[in-house]
Parts: sequence; structure tokens; C-alpha cells
Amino acid sequence: MKFYYTLNSGQTIEMLIPEQVYYPREDSIFFANLIQNYLYASHAKSILDMGTGSGFLAIVCALSSPASVTAVDKDRISIECARDNIESLGLGKKINIVQSDLFNNINERFDLIIFNPPYLPEADENKYLSKQEKSQLSDRDVIKKFLEIAKNYLTKNGRIVILFSSATKIKFSGYDVKTLVKKKLEWEELVIYELRPK
Ligand SMILES: C[S@@+](CC[C@H](N)C(=O)[O-])C[C@H]1O[C@@H](n2cnc3c(N)ncnc32)[C@H](O)[C@@H]1O
Repeated sequence: MKFYYTLNSGQTIEMLIPEQVYYPREDSIFFANLIQNYLYASHAKSILDMGTGSGFLAIVCALSSPASVTAVDKDRISIECARDNIESLGLGKKINIVQSDLFNNINERFDLIIFNPPYLPEADENKYLSKQEKSQLSDRDVIKKFLEIAKNYLTKNGRIVILFSSATKIKFSGYDVKTLVKKKLEWEELVIYELRPK
């Protein structure tokens, strides 16, 4: 399926997303809108997009900032999709693509790590979601593990920007937390936080 998004700069990007890959939805768009403004005021020189899916947020970062970008996903089909989209937008030299379960294949530190995680706690039980959607949306452990490990992959003064649904109950132990933006949806609220290791 085709996907279009217009950046603050006025540039419209066109992406192709097969049905097995997470199609950017309200959460992804909300994140993309925030991250462009965030990067405008940030000095980040290196960014990691964890769970890149189609590559959408990595692409938005690469087009909104001079930073180098690394796009990570554990899913092979998502990685192939991200690579196709990144190359067709001429960003192959700016975005490094790595297939990795969280940080398993990552050996550097980043000024900024962004993550639009699988975040719906009840997705496992939701009969309206396909098997693929359930696995993309419902891994509570992945968020817990991410929060435990991610601080080891940040540079000094590095930050994490992460999105949660109000439906996700998560403790941010070990981090100073700032709420960047909130959005009310019909049955949940999306919140994007900035985390700094204590
Ligand atoms: C909600 S989707 C977000 C996709 C994309 N960033 C966006 O905003 O449209 C979550 C993504 O996290 C990936 N993911 C889930 N568990 C992961 C893990 N352990 N390591 C890396 N990526 C993971 C999924 O494959 C999926 O592409």
C-alpha cells in the first residue's frame, strides 16, 4: 500500500508498505510531527530509530536533521521494506539499516534514540487484529527490556524519545521523565516522553 506524508519543510514523501509491515498510523504520524520540531531544537548528531518498521520515522529524521540515522528492526520483512523506501528516497548513504532484536547487533552510542514501540497491552487478546498486527503491537516485555538496556547505548547527555498509550502501564525507573506532548484519541491517550538516564 502507498503511504504519503508531508514534512514541515513542505516535501511530501511517498513510501510503499507491504501488508506484513506496520503501516504508519495515528501514533506514527503523531511521532513524526513531534520529532521534526524536537530535532529543530536538538544538537543530536546521531539518531537510532528502534522498531523502524517501514523506515518512516528514520526517514523523517534523516530529512529533518543533519544527524546520521540508524534504523533498527528485528523483523526481516520490515527491514527489507525500510531498505527499499530509504533507497528510493535517495537516503541510502544517510541511514544505516540494521536487523536486530533491540540492541543485540548494535555496538555504538547515540545522542538520541527514538522508539514507537509495540504498545497495546491488550493486543494479544484482540480478535480484530491479524497475527502479524498482534506481534507488531503487543510485546510488553520488549518495552521493559528496552528501558533497561537503552541507557547503555546513549552518549553523555543522550536522550530517549518514546511514545506510549495511556493503556500501557510502564514504570520508568532509572530515568528522569519529561512529557513532551499528549493527544487524546477516542479510547486512549497517546503520550510522547523524553527520558534522560538519572
Ligand atoms: C508500532 S511499530 C512502529 C513502526 C514505525 N516505527 C512507525 O512508527 O510506523 C513497532 C515496530 O517495532 C518492531 N519491533 C518489535 N519488537 C522489536 C524488537 N525486539 N527489536 C526491534 N524491533 C522490534 C516491530 O517489528 C515493528 O516494526
